Amino acid sequence: MDEPTATRDLPDGLDGDIDVEALRALARSLACEAGALVRDGRPERVEVAATKSSAVDPVTAMDRASEELLRARLAAERPDDAILGEEGDDVPGTSGLTWVLDPIDGTVNYLYGVASYAVSVAVVAGPPDPERWTALAGCVHSVVDGRTWTAARGGGAERGGRALRVSAPASLAQSLVGTGFGYAAERRARQAEVLADVLPRVRDIRRLGAAAIDLCLVAEGALDLYYERGINSWDMAAGGLVAAEAGAWVGGLRGRGPSSAMTVAGPAPVVTELVRLLEDADADRPEGLSD
Ligand code: IPD
Ligand code: CA
Repeated sequence: MDEPTATRDLPDGLDGDIDVEALRALARSLACEAGALVRDGRPERVEVAATKSSAVDPVTAMDRASEELLRARLAAERPDDAILGEEGDDVPGTSGLTWVLDPIDGTVNYLYGVASYAVSVAVVAGPPDPERWTALAGCVHSVVDGRTWTAARGGGAERGGRALRVSAPASLAQSLVGTGFGYAAERRARQAEVLADVLPRVRDIRRLGAAAIDLCLVAEGALDLYYERGINSWDMAAGGLVAAEAGAWVGGLRGRGPSSAMTVAGPAPVVTELVRLLEDADADRPEGLSD
């Protein structure tokens, strides 16, 4: 299997002097500030402002406000860096670094008042593509309960000052596995077929509704493993680094890195069993193609 994401080299042209701890501190302060906005500004009844990929893929006014705040802070503090955010246009940069922003991960939970949603802020070097970037620092801030996970490349992952370490499940059959489902009906139908292969072979499944938090739960051993088809760069950027820095293997199927085709995270050697199972189930097969 590929080397874990966290150990990837820096891209050519970027020197090793990048202060990843300063980037971690900035990611944390941005995620917490946006988190306070999201928490304090949540109306009693949240309205859907628009829908995106399907009728059940919502955007709220707060997704937009949170991202605007993050972008304004970055424009002031890191004007040379690029920005890739869920709710706005890509901003080009000159430094080789890109901030990858999810202003609310778990928007459906936010809409319904289910207490599992987060602000996710990461900074990566190289192309803003999870299969090719080198993640440098990131923070996932769980808005309702304040849990805040951070990681810096080579500097470990922590929550509340406590270093994080993945679990050591005895087998796939003993593993608690997090996953999630996309917004398109055709994708969900395939995901249900794959789930039917996975569920009888694991301890149990959790669908908590925020991929960034799922990845952080793997980092602290509150989930053993995680897999999902269809997540976006902003869902995985910070959480993927947190998981990798806590000792998780983070990758895709058939030798690929993590991507929207498939992202899998968890401790070796058990994660290898899950990868094999997902490969056998063709879990990365594009929807609409029959087997
Ligand atoms: C979603 C959440 C969810 C996952 C979906 C994502 P969003 O992100 O992370 O857990 O299953 O695939 O799209 O839309 O709430 O930012
Ligand atoms: Ca989002």
